[in-house]
Amino acid sequence: MKISGTGVALPQLRVTNDMIAQYVDTSDEWISSRTGIKERPMISTESLIDLGAKAAKDAIAKAGLAPTDIDLFICSNVVNSYVTPSLACIIQGEIGATCPCFDINNACAGFMTAMDMADGYISSGKYKNILVVCAEEPSRIVDWKSRDACILFGDAASAAVLTAGDSLKTMKFSTKSMPDVLYYRRKLEYNPFLKKEEFNKPLQMNGRDVFKTAVSFSSADIKEVVEATGWKMEDVDMFVLHQANLRIIEAIRQRLDLPDEKVPHNVERMGNTSSACIPILLNELIEAGKIKKGDKLVFSAFGAGFSSAACTYVWE
Ligand code: UT7
Repeated sequence: MKISGTGVALPQLRVTNDMIAQYVDTSDEWISSRTGIKERPMISTESLIDLGAKAAKDAIAKAGLAPTDIDLFICSNVVNSYVTPSLACIIQGEIGATCPCFDINNACAGFMTAMDMADGYISSGKYKNILVVCAEEPSRIVDWKSRDACILFGDAASAAVLTAGDSLKTMKFSTKSMPDVLYYRRKLEYNPFLKKEEFNKPLQMNGRDVFKTAVSFSSADIKEVVEATGWKMEDVDMFVLHQANLRIIEAIRQRLDLPDEKVPHNVERMGNTSSACIPILLNELIEAGKIKKGDKLVFSAFGAGFSSAACTYVWE
């Protein structure tokens, strides 16, 4: 499997830390020093469907394909205004694709989960061109009356076209059930037969536990896939990590003793856009000419679940 095109679509509004501090008890100083985040894109007028469609069209065009060439479309999404049908089914109509479609919900690990699935489909010969769109709108589920989590996230869509190739080397994907550290619950509105308690909870997060779990899982995953590929850590040209918090990225970098320049980040400008993070960062690196043919890459992502994934990848 290889990535043959990437695309990104961002909402126009950029929300700075000072803007958030107008609504909750926080400050630019606190957010910057604890997370590295200075601003994040946020949906104010756009629809996530339009952003997803724009990112998809961009990736398909860069892959040199037409929407009708796509054989399967996987959309990674945690929440959007529709519960059903899937976001992929809706975006399919917007971009003029004709293939089978479905959504996956694996939080921040969604892109890598889709990569793993696509690799299986492509290796089996079942599908040739797979579109993955990561369309995320965390601003819809955070508690805007509490400072705990709303400072962390950004809204965005990104996409990648995955086709047959020899770029993906080793993939590790694992889940450890830890629903209490990061979750969002919604109440059933009305059912005359319901005889149990139901409740709504905006996004709840135990930040410290997520932080520790993220650093230990991600570092262990990276070590494992690098070794399983027969590489040494110093062979890797670039580590493309999930952009949750600059301190998490820095902790992983220090734990694995990686040089600064091999661990790029954009969390300062993007916040955590959940599964959209990795394709956005990849797209930026490609556009800036920072990745060249033959480069050895590592991707690593983690998120609610707790799910965690890493892979080794040689750029074609
Ligand atoms: O994809 C995964 C998504 N989730 C994450 O990546 C979250 C990972 N965790 C983190 O990024 C960090 O744990 C946070 C940034 C969420 C919090 O940083 P922390 O250094 O772990 O702070 P803390 O939760 O230990 O809180 C320290 C203090 C507390 O005050 P007291 O008890 O010391 O008086 C908090 O009430 O900071 C306070 N605090 C805030 N202050 C201003 C917590 N949130 C804020 C805030 N603004 N937004």
